[in-house]
Amino acid sequence: MTHLHPLSMLSGDEISRASAIVRADARFAEGAAFVHVVLHEPDKTALAHAAVDRQVRVELVTGPGVGVDDVIVSLTGGGVVRWQTIPNVRPTLLFGEAAHAVFTTREHPEYIAALAKRGITDINTVQIDPWPAGSFGYDAEIDRRIARCISFIRTDPQDNGYARPIEGLIVHFDLGRNEVIEVIDHGVTTMPTQHARYFAPDHVPLRTDLKPIEITQPEGPSFTVDGNLVQWQKWSLRVGFDPYEGLVIHQVTYTDAGRDRSILHRASISEMVVPYGAPGELQGWKNAFDAGEWGLGRMTQSLTLGCDCLGEIHYFDATLAREDGEPYVIENAICMHEEDYGILWKHVDLWGGTSEVRRSRRLVVSNIATVGNYEYGFFWYFYLDGNIQLEVKLTGIVSPQAIEPGVSNEFANEIAPGVAAPNHQHLFCARLDFDVDGPANEVYEVEAERMPAGPENPWLNTFRAKHTRFESELDAIRDTNSATSRAWRIVNPSSRNGLGQPVAYKLIPTMSTPTLLAHPESSVGRRAGFAQHNLWVTPYAPDERRAAGNHPNQSTGGDGLPAWTATDRPLVDTDVVVWYTFGVTHFVRPEDWPVMPVEYAGFLLSPFGFFDRNPALDVPPSTHCAPSE
Ligand code: CO
Repeated sequence: MTHLHPLSMLSGDEISRASAIVRADARFAEGAAFVHVVLHEPDKTALAHAAVDRQVRVELVTGPGVGVDDVIVSLTGGGVVRWQTIPNVRPTLLFGEAAHAVFTTREHPEYIAALAKRGITDINTVQIDPWPAGSFGYDAEIDRRIARCISFIRTDPQDNGYARPIEGLIVHFDLGRNEVIEVIDHGVTTMPTQHARYFAPDHVPLRTDLKPIEITQPEGPSFTVDGNLVQWQKWSLRVGFDPYEGLVIHQVTYTDAGRDRSILHRASISEMVVPYGAPGELQGWKNAFDAGEWGLGRMTQSLTLGCDCLGEIHYFDATLAREDGEPYVIENAICMHEEDYGILWKHVDLWGGTSEVRRSRRLVVSNIATVGNYEYGFFWYFYLDGNIQLEVKLTGIVSPQAIEPGVSNEFANEIAPGVAAPNHQHLFCARLDFDVDGPANEVYEVEAERMPAGPENPWLNTFRAKHTRFESELDAIRDTNSATSRAWRIVNPSSRNGLGQPVAYKLIPTMSTPTLLAHPESSVGRRAGFAQHNLWVTPYAPDERRAAGNHPNQSTGGDGLPAWTATDRPLVDTDVVVWYTFGVTHFVRPEDWPVMPVEYAGFLLSPFGFFDRNPALDVPPSTHCAPSE
């Protein structure tokens, strides 16, 4: 049997054992729900030791109200290490309670009456979406775990309900007590009539002129997998999975002249928020923390060969805990394969008559989360030349509202007759724990600076790279600037390349990216403080993992990055963690309806003097090139 690495993903058996230890403790409240059972990852100091205590972190919701129990158990020792009650916080929404919200709402007489007012008499056609409630100072929010439910009509069970929003109707629901708090009817809007189905039979005739593309690797893939350890080309990394972050990439190294050189200790999406920008009782409250309120891992769906992923695929299953503490498996949760990626480098020597070209290839590790109406695909790419990239693919269905046809609104674009989609954003925060040639790193902002006219600049052409080192956390709260090619270099000051320069990796914004547009003093502005800026840097602290804090659901805000960085800790020659927020501002197009073609967001991590020269000179020429005439 393979030796269990301390960062191996939890097995079903380990989840069961951890839950049994918790249930056997006198402090376990009868009927408590297991919010999560996750690997309590050893910190860097512990990882350096040969024998690591295998610990599991369990969160329990113990009653109908607020507060959670946060428990750490040791599987090695077979007992509870720490049991902490955290008052006044809400866990992520529970699947069981969200399902109850749907069924209980369907039976509520005021809700049924509101439907009848709209001519809706068949309850089986009604789709109810429970939304995270946010925090707006309603009495209904106090001491409760709540959801706001909005509704849609489906003409059959497979119909796209988002075509027909039941506008004006909101239900405030107490999830912990499984009861309707209030049915609020803001008035009737005409129901849109067009269907929005996206199945093949709804769009005949289908194209018939697409010839097959087959991806084959007759000798198999170039990677090896041992447990969660992946080796491909000179890369080594460990694949992990977290209920909130989804895919986690651990311990990324690149072998350079026989030396395994570390680059990233841990990389993941720490949080994401979808704030909506339309006013009013029906739309103004809408925002969702899809990591912290639902979970990018919990919402991950199984992938299918030949459709989601093409070629020689390796799948990893993910094992998570149900709310009774017992394990379940998301089969094929993570897809890994190699992709041809065009040319890597090329030169035709017009003088010498030679032509050299090399193919680029990348290792792709991905998962896709379905969070209600939207899909988010997270694609980590590792390239032959030392580049690492994260690309997020946004697809699925936009969250619509019904409007009176033709009544335009600058906060919501009409995308189908009588259907509008409010302006909104999708902002992702990547947590990047760099260890560039070891943990002691520092971060520089580097951007182009045009030189003033004068005797030093007689051709008026000069520009230079301006380097600014972040001395402490408040220095490092920064935004992108494409006009100056602003980027950030993570430098190891005590590791030098062959030219005597300190080695570095560079974080490059690959496309224009917004910050949060909601007012900083708005509810979502306070709760998603991390999204007010693109960049934050913190000194490594094992408990600082989630950019909006551990419990963003119904929080009043201020948690996470704004709180941690307020003490302005020093950042020089220390173990740094870089937090990068990126995403899209979505002014929805008719072309995004009824299902959205993929939109992209992401960033690139590129070596900058980490190597002495192009590290991909040893990639062999392709063997399939046609001979020249
Ligand atoms: Co969108």
